[in-house]
Amino acid sequence: MKFFVDTANIEKIKEINNLGLCDGVTTNPTLVAKEKRNFEEIIKEICSIVAGPVSAEVTSLKSEDMVKEAKNIAKWSNNVVIKIPITEEGLKAINILSKEGINTNCTLIFSAAQGLLAMKAGATYISPFLGRIDDMGELGIGLIKDLREIIDNYKFKSKIIAASIRTIAHVKDSAIAGADIATIPADLFPKLWKHVLTDKGLIDFLNDWEKYKEELNK
Ligand code: G3P
Repeated sequence: MKFFVDTANIEKIKEINNLGLCDGVTTNPTLVAKEKRNFEEIIKEICSIVAGPVSAEVTSLKSEDMVKEAKNIAKWSNNVVIKIPITEEGLKAINILSKEGINTNCTLIFSAAQGLLAMKAGATYISPFLGRIDDMGELGIGLIKDLREIIDNYKFKSKIIAASIRTIAHVKDSAIAGADIATIPADLFPKLWKHVLTDKGLIDFLNDWEKYKEELNK
C-alpha cells in the first residue's frame, strides 16, 4: 500500500518524505488556501520535493474550462496529477484528458456508482472520501470494499486513493479493504507509529540495561 500526504504544507511534506513514507501528495483548494501562497508555486515546489504523483485540483466547473486548466497545470511538472470532481462536466473532462495521456484523480466520490463512472471515464485515481461518509453516520470503509470489488471484477486500471482519512483505524481498515493508496493528513502520521506500550517497553528495557551495567561494575 502506498501512502500519500494530504497537505499542501511544504515543511510537513518534507518531514514525512524524510521518513521515507511519502509516495505522493494530494492537495485540494482548501488545503492550498491554508498556505496563503501562489497555487502554481506551491505545486511546483511540492513536485520538486516528491518523486511520486502530486494531485492539484481544478476549480472550473465546465468541462472545456477544466480541460484548459488541467492542460496548463500538467505543464508545471511531470509528476502532477489533475484532480477533478465527479460531476457530469468532470466526467467529460476526465474522458478527454485520459485520451490525451494526462493523469487524473477523480475526487469527491461518495458512492460506488460514482466510482464506477470515474473508472469508465478513464480516471487514473479515484478518491472516495472515507471520513466524510462516516460523518454522515454511515461506514465509509464499505465504499472502499465495493470499489475494490468492482475494479477487480472488470480489471479497471484506476487506483483507489482512500481519502478524507482522520484516524489510525481508517488507515488500517483501508489497507485491509484493499485501497491502493491512503492519503493521510501529515498530523496523523506520528499517531501511526506511536504506542503507549512501545514507550513503556522502551523505558523498561533501558532501566533494566542500566541495572545490568551497574551489577557488572560492582
Ligand atoms: O483531499 C481530500 C480529502 O482527503 C479531504 O479530507 O478531512 O477534508 O474530509 P477532509
